[in-house]
Amino acid sequence: ASSGDGGAGGRRSRRVLMFPLPFQGHITPMLQLADVLRCHGGFDVTIFQAAVNDAEWARHPAAAAGYRFVTVGAGVAAALAETVPSKGTNSDFAGIILRMNELLRAPFEDSLREVLAEDAVGDDTPAPPCLVVDSTLRGMQEVASRLGVPTLSLRTGGAACLVAYMAVPELIDKGVLPPPSRDPSQLDMPVTELPPLRVRDMLFSATTTQATMVACFECIIESIRCSSGVIFNTFDDIESADLQKIAGGLSVAVYAIGPLHKISAGLESSLLTQDRSCLEWLDKQEAESVLYVSFGSLASMDADELLETAWGLANSPVPFLWVIRPNSVVQGSGSQQGQVSLPDGFEDATRGRGMVVSWAPQQDVLRHRAVGGFWTHNGWNSTLESICDGVPMMCRPQFADQMINARYVEEVWKVGFLLEGKLERGVIQAAATKLLCMEEGKEMRRRAKHFKDRAAVSTENGGSTKAAISMLVELIKSL
Ligand code: UDX
Repeated sequence: ASSGDGGAGGRRSRRVLMFPLPFQGHITPMLQLADVLRCHGGFDVTIFQAAVNDAEWARHPAAAAGYRFVTVGAGVAAALAETVPSKGTNSDFAGIILRMNELLRAPFEDSLREVLAEDAVGDDTPAPPCLVVDSTLRGMQEVASRLGVPTLSLRTGGAACLVAYMAVPELIDKGVLPPPSRDPSQLDMPVTELPPLRVRDMLFSATTTQATMVACFECIIESIRCSSGVIFNTFDDIESADLQKIAGGLSVAVYAIGPLHKISAGLESSLLTQDRSCLEWLDKQEAESVLYVSFGSLASMDADELLETAWGLANSPVPFLWVIRPNSVVQGSGSQQGQVSLPDGFEDATRGRGMVVSWAPQQDVLRHRAVGGFWTHNGWNSTLESICDGVPMMCRPQFADQMINARYVEEVWKVGFLLEGKLERGVIQAAATKLLCMEEGKEMRRRAKHFKDRAAVSTENGGSTKAAISMLVELIKSL
């Protein structure tokens, strides 16, 4: 193990162990947190990495930056890989989480024992480590507790989402969930216990059964309850009421230390290689003129939606930067197509006004002066990154927490609007025009800029995020 800045009694500094769920939207905040804990607490960080994405990890800059990685579950790599590819629009993300817990539990126990045994060697025994674990990995949290390792839970979604998950048993008891039918009149019913959410916002995904959803939420909530604290990538100005509900409801210490991407020292968090040429293209565009279109690392669309999106963007008057991830278009058979072909005539129709890349440096894109709007699936990272750079959104959520995030964007923060129903070119064209060219969009941009300023204040001395980081560092030292 590498040495730190020396703890009490001349011992090496406390080692912080971390275990993210192996998906980009969960790896990103965990790596950013690693950076924050190293810079602000001087901790020595070791990251457990489930044996998926091995090729991407091998070339990831975090290893070169001095972080130590320990691979977990090489023996079950094939089973883990089978769990991952079912990603897509209707992926049963809750089922995937439960399966990952099953597969990783025993290998993690072996890996953790090995890491603990290393620490026991030599005279300068370090302070015992603690584990920061993704809130979905309840199995790992239990293993750590059993081996005497204190845990902290990282919740990678927003606070509003967890409050909604906490309410699910009550909503089932009251007969609000599941809805009697998938009729739009049922789905649009307000959930009066959780304004401004509607029944449709609580349905997780079309392929997740209620039993799986409930088991997944129990896993998250128990993992948080049994930890010494829960860490959120959010900040008080946007979610203080929900953060308080969590602290009270789960009797747990809550640390809102976001936006993490604004306080981490810039450690690269993306597993895919980012095409930075789009930044040069953005340099040539007018201020706040460009629509950035990206649906994160898991969401997908079918061939028809691809066609409508292409023509919706081509027919709109706005310049656009569109991320089409490899394998993100689902063909009729349900399989995902690696190479995506855009419709004939699209290139000519958009020459000079549009750019398509397979993966963008999203945080740099959103902070670029040329970007004036974001068409997003509302993964929590994307939502927070957009708010904290003052970029208003058109929202097309697909599964899990994305519907809840989108609803908050539209109704609570009022920094964007939902694009619901069948995806059609005329609707897209009108939405892009509203967001970029009309007064309604400008008002949303003004509100987003207000939150951008508040986010900046929260990370300065005296700000809520800065204070929460200090308290978190003290907690980790005291565990
Ligand atoms: C999801 C969501 O967080 C959540 O809805 C769900 O619980 C599971 O994970 P993802 O769909 O990838 O993650 O979305 P998001 O949370 O927005 O994270 C995507 C990350 O990838 C962002 O940090 C974004 O900056 C980055 N990204 C995205 C890029 O670096 N380049 C891109 O082109 C697109």
